Amino acid sequence: MDGAEGCPIVRIAPNEYSIDDPDAAKILYRTGRQLEKSPRYLAWGVPTNEQNLFSATNITRHAERRRQTATLYQWSTLTAFEPQLDALTQELLGRMTKLADSRRETQLNHWFHYYALDAIGTIALGRPFGLLQAASDVAGLMESVQRYSRYGAIVGVFPELHPTIFRLVSLLTPTGAYGLGYLVQVMNQAIADETVSPGPQEKDVESSGKVNNSGSHFVSMLHSMHAANPADFTHDDIRYHVVPAIGGGSDTTAITLSAAMYYLIKTPSAMYRLREELEQKEREGSLSHPVTLRQSTECNYLQAVIKETMRMYPGNGLPMPRVIPEGGLELAGRFFPAGTLVGINAWVANFNPTVFGPDADTFRPERWLDTTAEQITTMDNYFMTFGKGPRTCLGKSIPFLEIGKLLPELLLNFEFDLARGPSQQWRLLDDWFVRQEGFDVRVRRREGRRIMEGAGIKPLPDGGNE
Ligand code: HEM
Repeated sequence: MDGAEGCPIVRIAPNEYSIDDPDAAKILYRTGRQLEKSPRYLAWGVPTNEQNLFSATNITRHAERRRQTATLYQWSTLTAFEPQLDALTQELLGRMTKLADSRRETQLNHWFHYYALDAIGTIALGRPFGLLQAASDVAGLMESVQRYSRYGAIVGVFPELHPTIFRLVSLLTPTGAYGLGYLVQVMNQAIADETVSPGPQEKDVESSGKVNNSGSHFVSMLHSMHAANPADFTHDDIRYHVVPAIGGGSDTTAITLSAAMYYLIKTPSAMYRLREELEQKEREGSLSHPVTLRQSTECNYLQAVIKETMRMYPGNGLPMPRVIPEGGLELAGRFFPAGTLVGINAWVANFNPTVFGPDADTFRPERWLDTTAEQITTMDNYFMTFGKGPRTCLGKSIPFLEIGKLLPELLLNFEFDLARGPSQQWRLLDDWFVRQEGFDVRVRRREGRRIMEGAGIKPLPDGGNE
């Protein structure tokens, strides 16, 4: 029965299964008696170093490190970055303005990758990488993140070969200019800079071990932990946290931003309703420029658009496999012996019609609004975009922060037309991150907005055009 149409279990490798079953998700990603991540994740870590928070398979070690550094991802820490993110928004709006005025077509997804990498550089290392400013992939960083993801997706199929292949690849690219090796170099430089000019110190670490320094970037906070306890929290531990933030925190957000824009362009009714909401908030005086996180969370339709985009377009497109423990497990009515790898792919789960409705393959933000609290809980329980349980995405607030602030500014001030007309389709490439190609658009200024160089874009008081 494996692989039959409509069957919830598909064998994707001799010892590996992909499952679509909400009850199985509760078992596979449970908190008590946690299941180990499959060794395939090891290929996303440096074989000679300790693994990182994302690739680690050791349950105890991972739980300890995750607990210790959860403060990095608290709202209070993240919202302190709003001014820096606003500056990046400003930069992007300036770029869009120039594109609008030149009438040149552009690949919108590239701009979102520049923005998201600069944003995560700011949050994790204290400074943007400068991609937006350069309007290009500075030093091949974007390419490196993509190679990192692709390498793990391919080599992870044979994780036992990872140490050898990684060594060979490093020899062939001795400057480490691409992939994980390069990301680690960037990280090492940031850590070294912080050592010369350290951020917060020991005093910033509370007796509980938690860092109390909102407004500091990740490396400086992790440095504080290192300063407080150098033997137990080493430089390797700093890398343990920063590598997945850069490697996993930029492409995913950029991909989601592109998807939101694509679905909105393709669904004019949703675009119209979202702009109506934003303009109504502007008229009421409850939407400033730049838009604050708080204001964006009060825009119900905007939040529904973001959530529906994440459902329709999860950033990660492979199953998230776990190792079946001693004694085996029964999942979706079938027994799996110990050692089998079983996972759920968000691109399957999020389209399950019994959970999300018969129109699960349609972009319909109203799904999250015109329904009962009970139905929302059912959908939330099987919303797999960020994974589930003890290994769920630690950074999931960040896309809500970035997209919630940026999307309204873009939509209020610009029109985006598909360069080859409404029937234009993009191409998707799945190498763990599901990337887009062919998202060529033309940008137009929206009537009634005044674009102010360096000071943001504001609506004209009289609603007139510039
Ligand atoms: C839309 C954006 C994002 C998506 C769709 C996403 C998705 C995911 C998924 C599916 C996992 C779990 C993988 C698994 O169990 O196999 C994960 C883990 C993780 N993500 Fe994200 N992510 C996003 C943004 C971010 C950001 C912005 C950061 C940090 C800056 C981040 C940091 C992490 C970390 C550290 C883990 C590993 C957590 C652990 O194992 O304890 N992610 N992410």
